[in-house]
Amino acid sequence: MRPPKHPKPFCLPDPTRRSLLRAGAGVLALPLLNACGSSEVSNVGSNAATGNGCAVPAATGTQRPRGLHVSWTDDPATTRTITWFTDGAADPGTVVQYGPVDAGMSDCEIQTAAFPFSAEGQTQATYDVDALTHSATMRDLDTTRPIRYRVGSETGGWSAVRVLQPARQDSFRFIHFGDHAQSDASRAVTAATRAKNPDFVWIAGDLSYANGDQPVWDSYFDMLEPLASEIPVMTAPGNHENKDGGGQGYTSRVTLPGNGIYYGFDYGNIHFCVSTGGSLLNDAADAGELLKELAALEADLADASLRRANGEIDFIIFVQHYTIWTSCDGRDPFNFSLVLLEENILLRHGVDLLLVGHDHIYERSKPMGFGLPLDSGYVQITQGGGGQSLYELVDYDMAWSAFRTLRHGFTEYVVEGKTIRGTTYSVENAALELLPDGGLEIIDSFEIHARNTLAKAHAVHAARSLEELGRDFDLQAMVDHTVKRNHLHDLFEDHTANF
Ligand SMILES: [Fe+2]
Ligand SMILES: [Fe+2]
Repeated sequence: MRPPKHPKPFCLPDPTRRSLLRAGAGVLALPLLNACGSSEVSNVGSNAATGNGCAVPAATGTQRPRGLHVSWTDDPATTRTITWFTDGAADPGTVVQYGPVDAGMSDCEIQTAAFPFSAEGQTQATYDVDALTHSATMRDLDTTRPIRYRVGSETGGWSAVRVLQPARQDSFRFIHFGDHAQSDASRAVTAATRAKNPDFVWIAGDLSYANGDQPVWDSYFDMLEPLASEIPVMTAPGNHENKDGGGQGYTSRVTLPGNGIYYGFDYGNIHFCVSTGGSLLNDAADAGELLKELAALEADLADASLRRANGEIDFIIFVQHYTIWTSCDGRDPFNFSLVLLEENILLRHGVDLLLVGHDHIYERSKPMGFGLPLDSGYVQITQGGGGQSLYELVDYDMAWSAFRTLRHGFTEYVVEGKTIRGTTYSVENAALELLPDGGLEIIDSFEIHARNTLAKAHAVHAARSLEELGRDFDLQAMVDHTVKRNHLHDLFEDHTANF
């Protein structure tokens, strides 16, 4: 679905708005800044208690929310879901209170005014720790305006009031990285992503690297909270998520559409389709889950391709942890049978862009397929530089590879109509030293253009059933290879421990 178009109200010119913000006038200038739903506004409103004499009530309660992160489980144009954690087994309650940041609201009022709306949510055990995961969804939102909210309960205590940034309308932007961890580079990537103020963020798997040590997830979400409590973060599971109870450490801490593992949704003129890449399959007896997912991906992409040909959307983007092709040394696809089937699905339905991680490198492909440049193929962006230690590149060329390097950083995608402009930033210099003061270096830039009418029409195909897929692909071998690949991830504890 496409967010409704809203007429753009009076706005200050962007340079003026940016100078006001740089001068620290974000809150004072809110009446003017808020007039622009499609904005360049950076972090409107303060999420910290004010120092201007405002009587923000002291935090009370013994189970105060922590690790707040925003996502969506329903229409991104009108809903946001907040997920958070409380310590202990007793459930203090799950409530989100929210409302718009009204024009003219002072910083003090943002923090202290009564909320016009409230919603109760769900509580579930957090995997393998003495804590609970809470999630609650705000609905009927005008996401073109800043939204203030807090979560918690009278019993356990409330979070500080947070402000969600208004969603851009005429164009929008998102950021992608994977393999995040909690290194200095991870923190620099997190802070720089927040400073870029995108409309949302993709983390393409291997989030915390808890590797069975569940409290690592807590410190990970502490690190992520300043970003994720203000900007939606959507995720795909990676092989390291599998190390925590076969994915339970991950699924018990994130709230996502569909079954919460693989899913699809539209944002603006893009359809996103998210896959596990088989990362959570550990036993051939559970093969049905992977086969069900493949059938769901096939159906989701067939539907998206038809809608793209009908002009409802312009792009199809596929997100998962695993690469299809890679220039990472020693990392040829571990599982050709799954890779071949996935690539067949991507090419059949004309996926435009494939966002992945797993290999701790940065690499951008040409439009490609079958390991060769292919005009009608997909562009793969491997952004495995989110913070975990970097790998090595092969010392020979790949015909399909357009650019590759070893740097920590992230990739920003600015969507303007039928063009996506990508820019990849590094938080390090060429010697892999962190740049001071949040500095960034541009290491790659590129454009993706929407397919023409004929190409869109050529990509329209009916979804195949598993029976049909089974005629061309050995599904049992694919399941067996996926299980073997995932077991190998557990066996290697040296170089591959962090992959
Ligand atoms: Fe990985
Ligand atoms: Fe990784």
